[in-house]
Amino acid sequence: MARPSIVVLTGAGISKESGLDTFRDKDGLWSKVRIEDVATPEAFERDPVRVHDFYNARRRGLRNSNVQPNAAHRALAELEQRWPGEVLLVTQNIDDLHERAGSRNLVHMHGELLKTRCVHCGALDADLGEISVELACTSCREAGRLRPHVVWFGEMPLEMDRIYEALAGCGLFISIGTSGNVYPAAGFVQEVRYRPGTRTVELNLEPSEGATVFEERHYGPATEIVPTYVSQLLAGAR
Ligand code: APR
Repeated sequence: MARPSIVVLTGAGISKESGLDTFRDKDGLWSKVRIEDVATPEAFERDPVRVHDFYNARRRGLRNSNVQPNAAHRALAELEQRWPGEVLLVTQNIDDLHERAGSRNLVHMHGELLKTRCVHCGALDADLGEISVELACTSCREAGRLRPHVVWFGEMPLEMDRIYEALAGCGLFISIGTSGNVYPAAGFVQEVRYRPGTRTVELNLEPSEGATVFEERHYGPATEIVPTYVSQLLAGAR
């Protein structure tokens, strides 16, 4: 039997056990800072220094040597390598833990923390260290035009055509570590759920906003439930 192609969506919950905050849990990022102050184009227009400070602090957190891919990240990399059909990993996360775990067929729909974008020439730069309003773009040399290569509220996520194409053709959609509060990602399950011959699975610490739409649901820490689910999938037990 041909094995279906798979789309996996991940959110902040998959990186929680690696030591990175989620957003909406009680100790999440949005309980400490206001979205309006650090994660909108208007906030950047108003106070770029504050926005750079916020993302510089997150970069330092990500570079902390204790922050490493966990068993859930590794299980998804193994699924990509061993599954006979295509596996596309769509992450809302801006950390690089999926890449570090070995995932390659990967879309960062909300951007990447370790990259900057020049709003003057559009160039992307990787790992320029601490970003400031003085720093110049390495391509056009314009100073003060660099912004984090992340998608802020009110902005279009990246590679949406590729994502919708994969959703339209997949037989299995797995959602991991996301609360289902933010669209368009929270609506992906609807794209798959009602198509004949498909299966939709939620793996999360607790039921997400869209939990009832999923046919199959497993709850617990990602480092426990994701490796278990993936090994059963690879063993053909699912
Ligand atoms: N294992 C599995 N799931 C977990 C774990 C864990 N150890 N810890 C927390 N979770 C779950 C929570 O129960 C919650 O449902 O992860 C989810 C995290 O939800 P959010 O904090 O809302 O993060 P996410 O869904 O990724 O946010 C989506 O919102 O703020 C924006 O752009 C940002 O990409 C982000 C988007």
